[in-house]
Amino acid sequence: MECISLRNVVKRFGSIIALNNLSFTIPCDGRFALLGPNGAGKSTTMKILAGLLKPDYGEVEIMGMKPGTKEVKRFLGYLPEDPMPYRILTVRENLEYIASLRGVKKERVDEMLDLLDLRQYERVQAGKLSRGNQQKLSLALILIHNPKIILLDEPLNYLDIPTQEKVINVLRDMKSTFLISTHIMSIATRLTDHVIIISRGTVIWQGSIDELRALGREDETIESVVARMMRNA
Ligand SMILES: Nc1ncnc2c1ncn2[C@@H]1O[C@H](COP(=O)(O)OP(=O)(O)OP(=O)(O)O)[C@@H](O)[C@H]1O
Ligand SMILES: [Mg+2]
Repeated sequence: MECISLRNVVKRFGSIIALNNLSFTIPCDGRFALLGPNGAGKSTTMKILAGLLKPDYGEVEIMGMKPGTKEVKRFLGYLPEDPMPYRILTVRENLEYIASLRGVKKERVDEMLDLLDLRQYERVQAGKLSRGNQQKLSLALILIHNPKIILLDEPLNYLDIPTQEKVINVLRDMKSTFLISTHIMSIATRLTDHVIIISRGTVIWQGSIDELRALGREDETIESVVARMMRNA
């Protein structure tokens, strides 16, 4: 079954065409990376899937439903490019608020504090956290309800190396459908098995990580293969 599908999606911002007939599908339990040069349309795609932006044209479905509906939000976790927890609430208050909104047990708050090493900051206002700790809190907030479908826009930005390793392990253990946008190839290779490469708002290549590697010359890194594809698009 398809969990995510976009068909011929067009999104304009004034005269800029951010998405230009973008189509792809992701099967349930699929783990996909969304790659593309700066300005390719990755974050716009994520925002449309999260229901924050409406496409000008085309069809978008999450498990056969329209994005942004209450029903879809219940099983979706979306980490934006620039996440912002409630600045004046403490770390714990942020988690408690989202837990109540999502209807999850209070114990999940403590689980998330431990999972993302936030225990020592639980009484600190989110606006006073370092950027990396804000990122950890944002991840905790979107994972608290164990979402079936997870959209992550540059999830490991600002995280220290131990936390990057922890988050990779946490995500690997989750039985969810993933779409992760990233510029770091090792995040794609460690967390996903398929990649969709977009450029100027349209898909230029898609396939498995193994197929992508196989396109490289002997000793060529996967980064070099992807860079070549993006340059030639
Ligand atoms: N709110 C907006 N108003 C005007 N133009 C926008 C807006 N959001 C995105 N764009 C434009 O749409 C295009 C796609 O932007 P998007 O943020 O989706 O790219 P991206 O692939 O996420 O890039 P990056 O790798 O830099 O994060 C760019 O040309 C961008 O300038
Ligand atoms: Mg982006």
